[in-house]
Amino acid sequence: MKALFVALSLGVFASLAQAKPNSYAVWAANSAIARGQGNGLSNGVPLVAYDHGEFQWALRLLYERDRNETYLDYIKTGANNIVFDNGTVHGSYNVTDYVLDPLRTGPTFLYLLNITGESKWETAADIFRGQLNSHPRTAQGQFWHKLIYPNQGWLDGIYMGEVFYAQYTHDLQPDNITAWDDITSQFQLMFENTIQNATAPNNTHLMYHGYDYSHVAVWSSPDRGHSPEVWDRALGWYMMALVDVLDILPASHYGHDVLLHILQTLTPHIRDATDHMSGVWWLVITQPGRAGNYFESSGSAMFVYALLKAVRLGRVQDPDGSIVAAAKKAYGYMVQNWVIPDDNGTMSWNNTVVVGSLNLEGDFDYYISQPIDINDLKGIAAFVLASIEYEKL
Ligand SMILES: *[C@@H]1O[C@H](CO)[C@@H](O)[C@H](O)[C@H]1NC(C)=O
Ligand SMILES: *[C@@H]1O[C@H](CO)[C@@H](O)[C@H](O)[C@H]1NC(C)=O
Ligand SMILES: *[C@@H]1O[C@H](CO)[C@@H](O)[C@H](O)[C@H]1NC(C)=O
Ligand SMILES: *[C@@H]1O[C@H](CO)[C@@H](O)[C@H](O)[C@H]1NC(C)=O
Ligand SMILES: *[C@@H]1O[C@H](CO)[C@@H](O)[C@H](O)[C@H]1NC(C)=O
Ligand SMILES: *[C@@H]1O[C@H](CO)[C@@H](O)[C@H](O)[C@H]1NC(C)=O
Ligand SMILES: *[C@@H]1O[C@H](CO)[C@@H](O)[C@H](O)[C@H]1NC(C)=O
Ligand SMILES: *[C@@H]1O[C@H](CO)[C@@H](O)[C@H](O)[C@H]1NC(C)=O
Ligand SMILES: *[C@@H]1O[C@H](CO)[C@@H](O)[C@H](O)[C@H]1NC(C)=O
Repeated sequence: MKALFVALSLGVFASLAQAKPNSYAVWAANSAIARGQGNGLSNGVPLVAYDHGEFQWALRLLYERDRNETYLDYIKTGANNIVFDNGTVHGSYNVTDYVLDPLRTGPTFLYLLNITGESKWETAADIFRGQLNSHPRTAQGQFWHKLIYPNQGWLDGIYMGEVFYAQYTHDLQPDNITAWDDITSQFQLMFENTIQNATAPNNTHLMYHGYDYSHVAVWSSPDRGHSPEVWDRALGWYMMALVDVLDILPASHYGHDVLLHILQTLTPHIRDATDHMSGVWWLVITQPGRAGNYFESSGSAMFVYALLKAVRLGRVQDPDGSIVAAAKKAYGYMVQNWVIPDDNGTMSWNNTVVVGSLNLEGDFDYYISQPIDINDLKGIAAFVLASIEYEKL
């Protein structure tokens, strides 16, 4: 009896010593900071990288919530690592590569311009904004994902390009109606070209990873040029872009209703695509349970963030509570299965797929063959975002 009591007490003390968090958002953010992630450097060398922008967005929300200056300082350090004093962006970014990904660090520049008033951040933001003026487009007007992928629109690109485009327009050109129209059109074209049609096999009423307007990519479907599968992280990026840009786009512009309608259309289907046992989402959403498919952590965290934020702000009605219930169940699975307490007091984040591209076949076998990693910044940043929303419940 006494031995049992001692064992139980030791167990309690051991778990206290493990830096048991009051807030998973804080624990995850502090752990990534302790590992030096998302600071504008890769192996000590400056890199203009979208996942750093995603993480800085999460740190900004934490800073605004908790007012811990550590987060603001870390954002500044990270941005200063990729922007020179004269506002020029480090050469790992090249305008004429016409890649949307790096632009996701642009909202950080705009945030620092807002907070510090330093002109270097405006110079840097102007350089990114300049890319969009000459960025190649499809005949319908969709930005190509990259110059090397002609006529291809990928869901990922909406998060990378439009959050910056909207924040820039909001902060520096609020009366530029052409820009607001264009941002609206980017979301709309992506939706129309990738939404599964009524007779699609394994119809989840969700959006394929991307499309090729010219129908030449090996993966493009004969009818509409879309890729074969719904990939969780691509849709996660798109959903996060919807809820974030809705905060930025003026309610008086028609685009607000367009984005709202898309969000309201997708949300119940995202809820319904969860795995019934675990409550989280498959890597390849269109092939639930198929051998080799698995529950993927970055896309799942993105959906939790988007669903909870959409309901919290009244963008989506949830009369029976099923959307919030789905997000809560998924969040519970994440904390149980993907959060790993480390011996040194930090936490690690498991099961994030490293890449999902449309540069090869874009089929089921491609997606499941990609490696997963621990502490992939795209995933842990999404977990910070999901946790911030969960902790508002
Ligand atoms: C702010 O965050 C840092 C870790 O990033 C932590 O060490 C520090 O204690 C926090 N400060 C406060 C006032 O909570
Ligand atoms: C803490 O431990 C984890 C797991 O071993 C490791 O990945 C991480 O780098 C360590 N963090 C620090 C700050 O040493
Ligand atoms: C800005 O500063 C960097 C680093 O000192 C330098 O390489 C670059 O030429 C400068 N750009 C301009 C436009 O002055
Ligand atoms: C920028 O990219 C373009 C097109 O990819 C290339 O021709 C050019 O050499 C690059 N410039 C630098 C400085 O790397
Ligand atoms: C910073 O952003 C806030 C919120 O959008 C806005 O009210 C404020 O005017 C901005 N400040 C500057 C200096 O741009
Ligand atoms: C307004 O946005 C459009 C579309 O991006 C752009 O072509 C135009 O140059 C912008 N206007 C100004 C005054 O910068
Ligand atoms: C619906 O999608 C399927 C699969 O991509 C395709 O075979 C079919 O032609 C499409 N039908 C319409 C009306 O677009
Ligand atoms: C439909 O989903 C099932 C179950 O995951 C899978 O085995 C099958 O290959 C899928 N069919 C198509 C055409 O994607
Ligand atoms: C991370 O997940 C993989 C597969 O899902 C598993 O094999 C591995 O043991 C997990 N890592 C840790 C440290 O729990």
